Amino acid sequence: MKQLIRVGMLGIGNIGRGTWQALAMNHDRILESTGLDIEIVKILNRHPDKDRGIDIPKEKYTAEVGDILDNPEIDIVVELIGGIEPATEYMARALSNGKSVVTANKAAIAANGRYLVDLAQQNHVLIRCEAAVAGGIPILTSLTTALLSNSFSEVHGILNGTTNYILTQMTEYGNDYAQVLKEAQNKGFAEADPAADVEGYDAANKLSILMSIIFGAEVSPEDIPTRGITTIAREDIEYSLNAGYRIKLLASAKKGKKGLYANVEPVLIPAGHPLAAVSNEFNAVFVKGNAVDDLMFYGRGAGPLPTGSAVLGDIIGIARKLEKDSAYDIVPQLRYDSGVKFIGEGASKYYVRMTVTDRPGVLGRITTTFGQFGVSVEAVRQEAPYESGKERVAALIFRIFEVERPLLYYVLNKILNENIIKSIDNIMRIED
Ligand SMILES: NC(=O)c1ccc[n+]([C@@H]2O[C@H](COP(=O)([O-])OP(=O)(O)OC[C@H]3O[C@@H](n4cnc5c(N)ncnc54)[C@H](OP(=O)(O)O)[C@@H]3O)[C@@H](O)[C@H]2O)c1
Repeated sequence: MKQLIRVGMLGIGNIGRGTWQALAMNHDRILESTGLDIEIVKILNRHPDKDRGIDIPKEKYTAEVGDILDNPEIDIVVELIGGIEPATEYMARALSNGKSVVTANKAAIAANGRYLVDLAQQNHVLIRCEAAVAGGIPILTSLTTALLSNSFSEVHGILNGTTNYILTQMTEYGNDYAQVLKEAQNKGFAEADPAADVEGYDAANKLSILMSIIFGAEVSPEDIPTRGITTIAREDIEYSLNAGYRIKLLASAKKGKKGLYANVEPVLIPAGHPLAAVSNEFNAVFVKGNAVDDLMFYGRGAGPLPTGSAVLGDIIGIARKLEKDSAYDIVPQLRYDSGVKFIGEGASKYYVRMTVTDRPGVLGRITTTFGQFGVSVEAVRQEAPYESGKERVAALIFRIFEVERPLLYYVLNKILNENIIKSIDNIMRIED
């Protein structure tokens, strides 16, 4: 039997248009296979006279948000305006009015997910945010349906297409970070202000959401140790290639004996690992479950149609629950209830690149100082010396055995302050 599902959409930017287009392409197929007749009945458009480059009947538009949030005819509100506010306020109002919510907004969910989920449960409605993590990849839905029987010990994601594109171009063409960023901006792959992407904050928002689903943990993105890709130099890329690694901005969380570890940072991954093959603007999420074992999801983490596909998937998921009148009776997509303790980063293997004056005894002094503090060196490599000003210098690259980051930083600072070396040029985790 055909059931009409009336959707109100907030925002008609990239993803709003992508969602409209994806529905236009697939409406009849969805109706045929599910019986759901999904209609976007109203769209919040704060600039109704702006040319959106898409054929949408004018009467669908409203500049008044109440026409959607307080409209008794609307079943599901789709929030696609972005940013923490007023998006959170609008979603809260929709939920309080008994409407289910679909959003692509990682910033608002990472900041206020618990508040919104609680509100949804109090009002016996649903909130879903598949599109907020890895765009078109159905990772949240898979984790909360087909994979629900598993307990997961770790998750690693390449969750930001812009940074993955930049790192791939640096690796394939040997170009500098700044040069590749400029090209990416010219091609529309990077924002004019790229900070949220290149500093890792966007990936931290997404990891915070994944940690809620996978571990039931409430971890604010500000508490996740986060480093971006701005310090990656050609030398780091060259070393990684020669040593059989690829550098990826990885968002990782692992369950350890004492609690949960997490961070977002550039990491050296073995070239044979499936995540190393994820190139350019593509995203991937790798999980390890106690039954399913290793599993990787791969696809487009952004873009109007892939993200619109995820938004529509959530609309269909909610509509099917509404149809069966069981909206309050399912596993929520987000949860914050496991009580698992978040305890920072944990120990890892590290890559350290430094510059030293090319004279005898320097390497010995460095390794002795490492040894004094129990930091073990797995391997060291010296690059060819070169003239710098009046002296000859050389790059030293260390692989350090598992160590906690604060101890490593303490010892490296000591080595630097005692003028044993000239500079520390980069420090990255190695994921074997
Ligand atoms: N772009 C992607 O590939 C992607 C992928 C996954 C998730 N997302 C998420 O999807 C959401 C939308 O992203 P987008 O790329 O579509 O952004 P966008 O192109 O900037 O579109 C945002 C839309 O919201 C409207 N808007 C913004 N603030 C508003 C307000 N206060 N009141 C009313 N309307 C407002 C804008 O109106 P005007 O056009 O009139 O300014 C525009 O129509 C974000 O949360 C983003 O993180 C995006």
